[in-house]
Amino acid sequence: MREVAIVGAGMTRFGELWQSSLRDLFVEAADQALTEAGVDNLDGIYVGNMSGGQFVGQEHLGPLMADHLGMSGVAATRVESACASGGIALRLAFMEVASGMSDLVLASGVEKMTDGADVTNILATAADQENEVYHGITFPGLYAMIANAYMSADGLTETDLSAVAVKSHYHGSMNPKAQFRRKVTLDQVMQSTMVADPLRLLHCSPVSDGAAAVLLCPLADAHNYVERPVKILASGLATAPLALASRGDIAQLDAVAASAQRAYDMAGVGPDKIDVAEVHDCFSIAEICCIEALGLLEHEAAIKGAVTGCTAVGGPMPVNTSGGLKAKGHPVGATGVAQAIEIFEQLRGEAGDRQVEGARVGLTQNMGGSGASSVVHIYEGV
Ligand code: COA
Repeated sequence: MREVAIVGAGMTRFGELWQSSLRDLFVEAADQALTEAGVDNLDGIYVGNMSGGQFVGQEHLGPLMADHLGMSGVAATRVESACASGGIALRLAFMEVASGMSDLVLASGVEKMTDGADVTNILATAADQENEVYHGITFPGLYAMIANAYMSADGLTETDLSAVAVKSHYHGSMNPKAQFRRKVTLDQVMQSTMVADPLRLLHCSPVSDGAAAVLLCPLADAHNYVERPVKILASGLATAPLALASRGDIAQLDAVAASAQRAYDMAGVGPDKIDVAEVHDCFSIAEICCIEALGLLEHEAAIKGAVTGCTAVGGPMPVNTSGGLKAKGHPVGATGVAQAIEIFEQLRGEAGDRQVEGARVGLTQNMGGSGASSVVHIYEGV
């Protein structure tokens, strides 16, 4: 296998972007990534997208996006694994370059969720239809069940949960691409509208539009394109049953733990070497569960991570410095690639006010549904 690097990154602002269509969003992000590397040709394009067909009536995104990028003819395909679509697009691009099959591959993700579609029900197609959705559950409801399980067995409090959202909004306030750039207080989170007990509005990621793209090439060529490439050390993917009822302990995200172990084994580094991480906080409870499953913090420390300041910029284990899905936004198919961009910027020392001093090794974890698919990547600045 060849070593692989990221040499360009591009991302739209995340939010309600009425003025841009699905294809406009993709082209804006892709064009930035190609321009940064000074590249005008590609061997392949992967487009992470959860549900273009249902959100905006558009499927068949590979050729559509290649054409609108001015590259009709290039090998291009869409990748789907619910909210993990972007992370798995990155994995496939990584594998294609690592294999020696291609030299320049764009990994991207795009979603347009705010054009009037029935978002809650479309998102629910990523849960188990026969065993969950048919009976009326939604994603906030599924994560509320996980939160309740964690609270009753493990002493998680509403304050612990709410501190995660406060920290995310604080980080988001420093990210010019974030959907929400306003800070919130613990009191505001704990008084916000109840969505699915115990999850309130400010414990939820929002409905978002946006796109993100990164350009990959062999590490050996990377300095031809940029001064400071970032090496991808490893990629790990794992799955678990879709239905919570089919899992042993719903508070334990087995696919996250397995995908992390595969990535740590491949990279030859353990969680103690990670300087900064972006994890899939679609709801505040998910950040706590993921930090623990990734082995970044022990159980009690994961619960208290935001309360103690451990997971904030300046703390010993900074998590979701971008603002996370909570504040940066969560255009589902784009999220996994946007996470990689935050780590790309952190490892190049370009994250501005949210820079983690001395960051050398970073991790991203992107998951689909209530944790049925999870993909972890580990990166190193070179
Ligand atoms: N965090 C912070 N503010 C939010 C927000 C969020 N998650 N969602 C909406 N808002 C704000 C809006 O900006 C708006 O503010 P404004 O009045 O100042 O303009 C206000 O709250 C009302 O927005 P609205 O769009 O009417 O909210 P909603 O009630 O339709 O949706 C949720 C709120 C929580 C239901 C929705 O964001 C949601 O479904 N989130 C989860 C998405 C999800 O499941 N993703 C997949 C995860 S696996």
